[in-house]
Amino acid sequence: MRIHEPKVVAALPELGVELHSGSPLTELTSLGIGGTTDLLVIRQRQHLPQIVTLLGENGIAFRFLGGGTNLLVADGELPWVLLQLARPDHDLVIDGNCAQVDAAADLGRTVTYCAKNNLGGMEGLIGVPGTIGGALRMNAGAYGMQIGSYVREVELYRASARQLEILRGNQISFEYRHTSFAPDDIMLAVKLELPSKPFREILEGIRVCNNKRRSSQPLNQKSAGCIFKNPPGASAGRMIDALGLKGHRVGGAAVSDRHANFFVNLDQATAADMLALIADVHERVRMTHGVELENEVILWKD
Ligand code: EPU
Repeated sequence: MRIHEPKVVAALPELGVELHSGSPLTELTSLGIGGTTDLLVIRQRQHLPQIVTLLGENGIAFRFLGGGTNLLVADGELPWVLLQLARPDHDLVIDGNCAQVDAAADLGRTVTYCAKNNLGGMEGLIGVPGTIGGALRMNAGAYGMQIGSYVREVELYRASARQLEILRGNQISFEYRHTSFAPDDIMLAVKLELPSKPFREILEGIRVCNNKRRSSQPLNQKSAGCIFKNPPGASAGRMIDALGLKGHRVGGAAVSDRHANFFVNLDQATAADMLALIADVHERVRMTHGVELENEVILWKD
């Protein structure tokens, strides 16, 4: 979608918004898939309510983009624009056992910055690409931990109510790759409360997780991490692998030959290729294992 309304185009700079016309989602997502639309980078987030109102009044639909690392976006010209928070210069402040982190901060950098301040607990998240906002929304987890366990407070903008809110950790439900946030809640910042741990000990945990991840996941290929959630008590990767589907390909999309629950963009895959591959694997698992796999990757199909 292109913003043509002159009064909207004129108002955006005053609201601290940078307009990137016709941005390709191939460059904004870790899968390297998706069509084009206008990207609005928000540099002054205090204007978020006015920005949302301006778009609403002019009938411009929008979606909110974090790091784009768990996302499969449709091909072609997209029917909505994208909003994205610019990363501020100071995105992380430590105060005792708490870290106040901006939603646009990089997750991995947050883990290491906290480690340097002798705050641990999040070692498992090292190597998970994306922003703090995205990690919160999905309750990112790995190697036995999840970010939700450490959330004390979340500051967010509720687009539906047009209201800034601060939620305490116990007002949010954090489940396996699922949270109680509404789809149009925009994460702004989080206060994490982390256990004290000596830096060396955290570093050792980080090293172990990094090695496990490197040996089992296709980190140097374009992917969105795991495509399906693990069904209770089972492993989607193991089930897909057991069907001999590693390397199985539709167009430019393929099941990784390293980890069967990672689907990779091998060669200019389209969203149509990737969706067909997801549907095919889903069906084969259903037929053979009798299990309906649920997507972990977020689909923006329309
Ligand atoms: N396995 C296979 N073949 C494969 C992949 C896995 O046999 O192709 C087996 C492994 O040998 C292991 C079991 O399946 O016995 C589980 O595999 P793994 O340890 O790789 O964990 P996973 O359940 O596949 C989950 C998360 C990952 C997270 C890892 C590490 C989900 C859907 N995936 O993977 O998260 O990094 O554990 O904790 O929960 C993500 O969320 O995008 C993601 C990658």
